[in-house]
Amino acid sequence: MSNRRDFLKASAAVGGVAMASNFAGAFAAGNETIKVGLIGCGSRGRGAVANILQAEAKINGANPKVEIVAVADAFKEQTASAVKAFNNPDHEHFGPFVKQMKVTPETTFDGLDAYSKLLATDVNLVILATPPGFRPFHLEAAVKAKKHIFCEKPVAVDATGARKCYGLVEESKKANIAIVAGTQRRHQKPYIEVMKRVHDGGIGEIRAARCAWNGREPWYKKREAGQADSTYQLKNWYHFLWTCGDHIVEQHVHNLDVVNWALNDHPIKAVGFGGRAFRHPGDPKDAGQIWDHFAVEFEYKNGVRLSSYCRHFPVPQDDVSETVIGSTGLAYTRDGSAYTINGKDVLEDEKALSGYVQEHIDLLNSIRAGAPLNELKNVTDATFTAILGRNACYASGTTLKWADALASAEDITPKNFALGKPMDATPAPRPGSWKLPPRA
Ligand SMILES: NC(=O)c1ccc[n+]([C@@H]2O[C@H](COP(=O)([O-])OP(=O)(O)OC[C@H]3O[C@@H](n4cnc5c(N)ncnc54)[C@H](O)[C@@H]3O)[C@@H](O)[C@H]2O)c1
Repeated sequence: MSNRRDFLKASAAVGGVAMASNFAGAFAAGNETIKVGLIGCGSRGRGAVANILQAEAKINGANPKVEIVAVADAFKEQTASAVKAFNNPDHEHFGPFVKQMKVTPETTFDGLDAYSKLLATDVNLVILATPPGFRPFHLEAAVKAKKHIFCEKPVAVDATGARKCYGLVEESKKANIAIVAGTQRRHQKPYIEVMKRVHDGGIGEIRAARCAWNGREPWYKKREAGQADSTYQLKNWYHFLWTCGDHIVEQHVHNLDVVNWALNDHPIKAVGFGGRAFRHPGDPKDAGQIWDHFAVEFEYKNGVRLSSYCRHFPVPQDDVSETVIGSTGLAYTRDGSAYTINGKDVLEDEKALSGYVQEHIDLLNSIRAGAPLNELKNVTDATFTAILGRNACYASGTTLKWADALASAEDITPKNFALGKPMDATPAPRPGSWKLPPRA
């Protein structure tokens, strides 16, 4: 990507190539082998490869019909190490599946346009696992190329990207494209059971909610000697706004999604505050720009208030949970440890398959049944809930309305991005001085 326009041009070209070649296999159903391509060969992308193969083993046992056929990444060393791991018979996760690993040098792509080259092959399904800033563009290109999609959360980092995703909802549904998102709680049996009971009136009428991702410092990469700014930003993507969206968007999106799920809606406004208390001080070109704490009050159209907190502090106590308070009871979920209504766990057997595998079981089954799951609307709602909350905090003290925030021309993708180049980084947003860009 050298700039947004080039990105769009590249995406359009990809769509053209893939549609012209008219791969019927894009809609693999029934007995066909599903050929998977991975875009973004980092830790989650590799994890998703293992998970889709584990899912297929659950579905088809000794006769799997899923193969990993192509990989793409901005950096050659990432594709190389991923393929090496995939083909390692002793690898903890990939070892059992080496026969399903069919990536060749011809289907290994690197560079910022690697995604478009992968989409021009005959893969049926793509895993989108790059940093979030690229997601709207990669989603658009994958939908145009008529590929089924597993896409990691979040799906955007700004209003422009979120509008693009909303625009793809109907288009992907009309084209019968499956889109399962990495908001895996929606595929976890105990979460599903709690939500069923909430929706069935198990806690009465919902009055309020609270959710949190209060944890510690995430990974941080120091700049290597001689590493250009742009390359460093991509390698250290968690700490730059245009790549990450800030941690309320990148991480807390999971908890916000759960509350949206409980309410079957998204908020209509938000007010909040936050800042950068502990995070690495110094030149933003090295230290990054994201904040380390946010506190937001969201309001839904039925008047329900959601108190939302997320934080990266070096303190001992963590809290990653969701609470929904009803007129007659309370639902509390803390992934991995509690899935309760009024203090009682809803399922005896909490050892149900992890959401990470179940989401791929649901994806594959839906494709084969000819009824592709499409979660793009929900994950875009959750993503934009987080973006709304983030911007309300950047604006500190000013209530931000969903409709205004979504209509804004906000676009944080750099205009001349290329690897190996000098690149500025604005300082972390200063509470209160941030202003919502005008309508697009
Ligand atoms: N659902 C979950 O629980 C969960 C957990 C972890 C991460 N994630 C999400 O997964 C995504 C990836 O996170 P990660 O931890 O794997 O990061 P990572 O840094 O380990 O991997 C990202 C990969 O993308 C590559 N990349 C960067 N820009 C690219 C581009 N333009 N084109 C192609 N490749 C590009 C990088 O080189 C790297 O290999 C993020 O959106 C993150 O939020 C989700």
